Amino acid sequence: MAKRITKRARKIKRIGILTAGGDCPGLNAVIRAVVKPALEVGIEVIGFKDGYSGLMYNKWKRLDSHDVSGILVEGGTILGTSNKDNPFRQPIRDPKTGEVKYKDLSGDVVKTYKRLKLDALICIGGDGTQTVASKLVKKGLNIVGVPKTIDNDLVGTDVTFGFDSAVSVATEAVDRLHTTAQSHHRVMVLEVMGRYAGWIALSAGLAGGGDIILIPEIPYDINVVCAKVKERNRKGKRFSIVVVAEGAKPKGGDLVVREVVKDSPDPLRLGGIGNKIGRDIEEKTGLETRVTILGHIQRGGTPTPFDRILATRFGIAALELVMKGQFGKMVCLRSGHMNTIELSKVGGKVRTVPSDCEMITAARMIGTCLGD
Ligand code: F6P
Repeated sequence: MAKRITKRARKIKRIGILTAGGDCPGLNAVIRAVVKPALEVGIEVIGFKDGYSGLMYNKWKRLDSHDVSGILVEGGTILGTSNKDNPFRQPIRDPKTGEVKYKDLSGDVVKTYKRLKLDALICIGGDGTQTVASKLVKKGLNIVGVPKTIDNDLVGTDVTFGFDSAVSVATEAVDRLHTTAQSHHRVMVLEVMGRYAGWIALSAGLAGGGDIILIPEIPYDINVVCAKVKERNRKGKRFSIVVVAEGAKPKGGDLVVREVVKDSPDPLRLGGIGNKIGRDIEEKTGLETRVTILGHIQRGGTPTPFDRILATRFGIAALELVMKGQFGKMVCLRSGHMNTIELSKVGGKVRTVPSDCEMITAARMIGTCLGD
């Protein structure tokens, strides 16, 4: 690898790297996988702090081997991150009036890039990050993207790093909820993250043996859900586990929004559908029901071995692209192999669970209710 890079690396002297959007297990593993081989071949790596904010406001640090030592297993990001910054529409708050105005600071990003004499920039993030990256490519920056998100909803890659870790946490939660469900003969509802895609709920629901799995892609009928709960009771299974994605909604109904983060490029924060479903089930079946909203626990902690390996492969692949001078692309995983996709094809879309997904078929075959 180092030899393969050395030959082509002569022109690349200094690169930048940033992590943007929500934090996610595996970010540090990518940073490490870029920095270690880069330093080996004499390339300097500048780490920008707090996502695009670091590029706009010139906040960075030179990364050396000590910075990336021991970080493979650490969750979060040593660089910091932000899901509020957007160089093309940056919210600026007037300190006196508190009024927020939006400014295009993309020129400042270009200035920082040029001042630091960067040959390339690696942007690690999800949909919002890659959308901004794609726009910065049009401004002349040499960018390579790396796909991150626990939601697994990024177009162009079979899987994002962080997803497996989130599924592992959510699955453990399903396993643990079984204990109380069985002992108290209760209905236990678990709400998991995922935004507008049901990947986490479907995967954790399947892995944990959830009886009912509700995802945004299949709007649910509460009567079907309650019928399943009652049927289980009739058959002597006096408990039920419901795994619900935060983006799930009833047929003809709306998403439940937890919060509107005004300054964010993606202002809606979902959450709370679990409470609604819990209330509805208790009311319609008379069975005692409890709700757990897993929240950011899914994003925290150490990455799973799968994510450590995937993130490392992505980091290496990103550096290789830089070495080859192939910019304006995002590394991705396709059919088990590293691949690339044009950044312009990634942003502004959501990769939802397709109706012919094998996991959906499998869930139905084993009698899991999907609410439809
Ligand atoms: O995109 C990752 C994610 O964790 C989503 O699953 C969730 O809807 C959102 O971020 C939460 O965002 P925040 O950390 O701003 O509350």
